[in-house]
Amino acid sequence: MKRTISTSLFALALSLSSAHAQGMPFGSEEDTAYAKLLWDVMQAERLVGPDMLRAKPYEGTDPHGMMLETFYTKATINDHTGDLIVKRNFGPAGVTEDQVLADPDKHLGAVTVMFRREDGYDPDDMNWFWVKYLPDGSLDKTPNGMAMAGQIAKGMDEGCIACHQGAADDMVFTSDYLLAN
Ligand code: HEC
Repeated sequence: MKRTISTSLFALALSLSSAHAQGMPFGSEEDTAYAKLLWDVMQAERLVGPDMLRAKPYEGTDPHGMMLETFYTKATINDHTGDLIVKRNFGPAGVTEDQVLADPDKHLGAVTVMFRREDGYDPDDMNWFWVKYLPDGSLDKTPNGMAMAGQIAKGMDEGCIACHQGAADDMVFTSDYLLAN
């Protein structure tokens, strides 16, 4: 009897957090819920969604897209205020600035976001929370079906964190603005 209970508890724990069961610090229900809160804040600020502000796109690099727009601001989630960087990724390969400007919604492929969470969230990697959204606000998924939100691919050789570790001290490629403020 005792064994049955602990076995089913174990199964429950596994099903509640398949991402953590796979040893991955991202894609859990908590990460997904947090990403949803963040989307709502970004939508209210018109950084994403149907009424989003437009900017002049610039030529991008892999893996983010052929044309990019990047915004730097701060956001507040659950009483914590942190740096927020929003990158809009446009495609496909070969798309021009004029084509993106003429019909940005058609060319938007994904929105990749870094949000600096509270101290202690991920001290080794500057406490960044990483997300890759599709244009409608849903989360993109890895090939094995894990939602792309949280400490994405931490500890792996490729992915958001591994690649961004190559960018200066704060893991931001485009600007030293955050370090200066
Ligand atoms: C192979 C390397 C690589 C990977 C993987 C990668 N990025 Fe980036 N990222 C870059 C580069 C290079 C830039 C600068 C692009 C530019 O010119 O705007 C960038 C820029 C960004 C920015 C703007 C802030 C900055 O660093 O300049 C955000 C936000 C971002 N990436 C999020 C993500 C997220 C989220 C993921 C994972 C889903 C990810 N990135 C995966 C290379 C990478």
